[in-house]
Amino acid sequence: MIIAVDGPAASGKGTIARALGRHYALPCLDTGLLYRAVGLSVLKAGGDPDRESDALAACTFQDSLLDEPALRSEAVGSLASRVSIHQSVREALVARQRVFASQPGGAILDGRDIATVIAPDADAKIFVTASVHIRAQRRFSDGIAQGGHPDMDSLIADIQARDTRDMSRDHAPLRMAEGADLLDTSDLTIEQAVQRAIALVDAQLEGRLRP
Ligand code: DC
Repeated sequence: MIIAVDGPAASGKGTIARALGRHYALPCLDTGLLYRAVGLSVLKAGGDPDRESDALAACTFQDSLLDEPALRSEAVGSLASRVSIHQSVREALVARQRVFASQPGGAILDGRDIATVIAPDADAKIFVTASVHIRAQRRFSDGIAQGGHPDMDSLIADIQARDTRDMSRDHAPLRMAEGADLLDTSDLTIEQAVQRAIALVDAQLEGRLRP
């Protein structure tokens, strides 16, 4: 069984994917981490994330990079969004995601193009979203919890810039796939969002079983 979870930055899709993984006992892949690893590798190599050849060269990153805490930063998220517009970068990361998706027993993947490109035949597809203000508020709270001094206006601007880039790129832009269910987490607690996601997945699985 494959479950595809897509959505914009800070929508809560990662939290929901991990909770679905625990509920259905399936392994999860946060595909954003792959793009983040490419973004961080370009930076470390002194390359230009907007130059396709530099970004492609960074796709041969070491797996150990996926464990680096720096990958989770806002700055690296933005680099990831920039390298992800290049078609050759996307192609270089496809095989790895499809191998994960097709492992025996199934898998959950979260990202931007899981239900549209990576696993269009997924058994269940959820598109997670939330208002820009709520997403910025979540990032703000995370920043405070980590002892930082986040600025709400720049968080809003960053999220809007990332949405625009991820949704308007030529290759595999972020969009809701046909057959996906929308889950708006703006007014939901994490627990409520997870319960709603489980209900949507169960309903989709049941629908597929019906003749
Ligand atoms: O999910 P995230 O914020 O960690 O993703 C970082 C960036 O990576 C995102 O802005 C666009 C890119 N990305 C992508 O293009 N396709 C995916 N499946 C996952 C992430």
